Amino acid sequence: MDEQIIKEATAHIKDKLNIAPSVGLILGSGLGVLADEIDNPVTIPYKDIPHFLESTVSGHKGQLVAGMLEGQPVIAMQGRFHYYEGYTMQQVTFPVRVMKALGIESIMVTNAAGGINKTYNPGDLMLITDHINNMGDNPLIGPNNETLGDRFPDMSQSYDYIYIEHAKSCAHKLGLSLQEGVYVGNTGPTYETPAEIKMLRTMGGDAVGMSTVPEVIVARHSGLRVLGISCISNMAAGILDQSLTHTEVIETTEKVREDFLRLVKEIIRTLPN
Ligand code: 6GU
Repeated sequence: MDEQIIKEATAHIKDKLNIAPSVGLILGSGLGVLADEIDNPVTIPYKDIPHFLESTVSGHKGQLVAGMLEGQPVIAMQGRFHYYEGYTMQQVTFPVRVMKALGIESIMVTNAAGGINKTYNPGDLMLITDHINNMGDNPLIGPNNETLGDRFPDMSQSYDYIYIEHAKSCAHKLGLSLQEGVYVGNTGPTYETPAEIKMLRTMGGDAVGMSTVPEVIVARHSGLRVLGISCISNMAAGILDQSLTHTEVIETTEKVREDFLRLVKEIIRTLPN
């Protein structure tokens, strides 16, 4: 990863900000509304940032929003880049490098995911306790820049244990139920076959999606603390007797939006050190 392009993107953004963000947020399909809650927002379209790409998926806006959220200086990605769009893993994770360079210490990643665990229901929120990289690629492949992170990063505690406990206590305080599980990252853009979902369940997956894993790998490489939340937008193939559509994914996330917003805002408001 070329440090010069990180510096150029960072300088462009820093010039426009009136806060120094300490928490980064990556908002998935239908979850971008959280950025609308940011006070005195500074909004920067991806297309204006040097070396940023444009996101192509409907339901994803494609801009950075920075400001105060529940008393914390944050920078949010309203829309992310996906591997299935044809970007490289390095391109998909470039914004994480830039947010790190802007000074964030923690990152909250969110996504819409299909439920693999049969005890889940569409509309559930799931705290990500671990992940399985099933994408057949890794954003750290290639020469390692030691100033950015280690050649062989430890992934044994990728989802911060203190944040996990904190998120659980916030959910409890708000009277929200919160599942916990393992997120499997697949490339997409196809949804899985029933046989693939059975395999993923056997492997230990609880939810499956097409994002998050690359960003979390780079976040850990960068030494960021990570918290991940999936919105179970639908059950994966073969669990219910129905087919999957992107429309269902968007509609369910709209229904749990309120719970999602309450939970994330409480987590941020009371974020521990
Ligand atoms: Cl069922 N699979 C994948 N790969 N991504 C999803 C999904 C399923 N539901 C929402 N996102």
